[in-house]
Amino acid sequence: MPKRTLDEAAGRINGGGVVAFPTETVYGLGARIDHIPALDRIFELKGRPGNNPLIVHISNLDMLRALTPWHEHPKVKALADVFWPGPLAIVVPRNPIVPDRVTAGLETVAIRMPNHPLALQLIEMTGALAAPSANRSGRPSPTRVAHVVEDFGDELDVLDGGPCTVGLESTVLDLTSVQAAVLRPGGISSKQIEEVLGEAVTSDRDEGVVRSPGTRYRHYAPKTPVQLVIDDGPLTKPANALVISPDASPDRSVDGFYGYGGDYGLLASELYDRFRQADLEGRAVIMISPPRDRSHPMHAALDNRIRKAADL
Ligand code: TXA
Ligand code: MG
Repeated sequence: MPKRTLDEAAGRINGGGVVAFPTETVYGLGARIDHIPALDRIFELKGRPGNNPLIVHISNLDMLRALTPWHEHPKVKALADVFWPGPLAIVVPRNPIVPDRVTAGLETVAIRMPNHPLALQLIEMTGALAAPSANRSGRPSPTRVAHVVEDFGDELDVLDGGPCTVGLESTVLDLTSVQAAVLRPGGISSKQIEEVLGEAVTSDRDEGVVRSPGTRYRHYAPKTPVQLVIDDGPLTKPANALVISPDASPDRSVDGFYGYGGDYGLLASELYDRFRQADLEGRAVIMISPPRDRSHPMHAALDNRIRKAADL
């Protein structure tokens, strides 16, 4: 795999290329928003439906001005002030400079400032980058360079930033509806957002309508079947299963068992890697219980990804 230095990665992107780069959530597959063939290449590489829009990544607040008429909007400023750089993407009206290829024809654009030094330096050198997660559609998002290579082989240029610290995709928050709406739960919780906005935030599920196009598709799923463990009864572990359990402390040495010791942050950062490991090891099934502690900021995101992986 061509691992690239920061200068090389920026050079490739500025020359009209596509490069995978690290963020704190998951690796992204980045292209400049003014390079339409590179944007086309992203959809082609991922096998992504054209009606699923991309998030635009910025490295400083001045970049907002070009992208949205809401660059001075009080809600945008308040959220950016508290959560950026960080795992929150906000959906706001777009300026005409943002191409249809990025927004899938929507009049809105999702924007976030990632909290990773290499991502921020890269974007300073290239300008705003459109980037979906750097996985093939339907696969778990990549949280390690090795995952990007698993999905795309040796051809793709990659900037190595080590393992992603958050490990689940960003919260997507629509600010254009009357009441702000979480379209995809992520590293920033509804409660945290409500505290900053000083008003209630709704979630897609409450309304029974799916407004974020990407959430329509089966996602985040390993090839290994995922089985939810709901009750507390004694667990009969089928042969060759991987059990992901809140009980014990982490121990890589026990075969077929991963205990995260109730640490939701740790589970989030490890989840997709464990899913992919299970595939590589040829596990028969992954057994995992949905998180219980609703007061934890990662609760909604973990619950969402685990249930989606189980295809519920
Ligand atoms: O953490 C992340 O957000 C990662 C890293 C690379 O930043 N990116 C990521 O991108 O997860 P992707 O393309 O895998 O997911 C973007 C989600 C999709 O569900 C998409 O439908 C939604 O954001 N989205 C993008 N633009 C939108 C818009 N204008 N309105 C509603 N939803 C939008
Ligand atoms: Mg994705």
